[in-house]
Amino acid sequence: MPAKIAPSILASDFANLQKEVEMLNESQADYIHVDIMDGVFVPNISFGIPVTEAIAKHAKKPLDVHLMIVDPDRYLEAFRNAGAEIISVHYEACTHLHRTLQGIKQLGAQAGVAINPHTSVDLLEDVIQDIDLVCVMSVNPGFGGQKFIENTYQKVERLKKLIVSKGAKTQIEIDGGVNLQNAPKLIEAGADVLVAGSFVFSSKNPILTIEGLKNL
Ligand code: DX5
Ligand code: ZN
Repeated sequence: MPAKIAPSILASDFANLQKEVEMLNESQADYIHVDIMDGVFVPNISFGIPVTEAIAKHAKKPLDVHLMIVDPDRYLEAFRNAGAEIISVHYEACTHLHRTLQGIKQLGAQAGVAINPHTSVDLLEDVIQDIDLVCVMSVNPGFGGQKFIENTYQKVERLKKLIVSKGAKTQIEIDGGVNLQNAPKLIEAGADVLVAGSFVFSSKNPILTIEGLKNL
């Protein structure tokens, strides 16, 4: 089965956001990945709730919102109201992850958990059945355009085994440095969703690049 493709709007031209979203509407993208950075959890600030609303206003694909923020519980409702269909919080930012996941589901969104490169998939063992999507970070979060971390392949394999062993329906998403070289290996390892930022938006023809990833 082909992977779902989630282009990251972080790499788009913010001065032409409507056009960029319309381009993604026309493409084979499955989701629009929306990266929220607070300058505290990660050393960079992207954009927040009003910009997410502006993206949602034009988007015909579900918004996959990746919260790289401390204390995400405070903002779940605001991002849901802004149009998020999937909300991923960072494992490292949640003291009561199980409660946070229930909170996301109560809002009617799909609940995601993102894990940093140093965070073991084993830490999700007792909560995997409550997670709709695990976002495996294949770079350290904070910036687009970074180099893919090779350890990700075996991490995805271990996560896939965990999901199967628990009979869970969790999707595996890969985020950071994804391109046409590493994508086939990631799919083989068990990836269901591929996020791609700079690889899509720096290419000459983003629509064709998305098609290329989709047709792997
Ligand atoms: C990194 C973000 C990623 C990023 C991916 O902190 O979470 O979603 O935008 O961009 P590329 O594909 O350029 O690594
Ligand atoms: Zn992301």
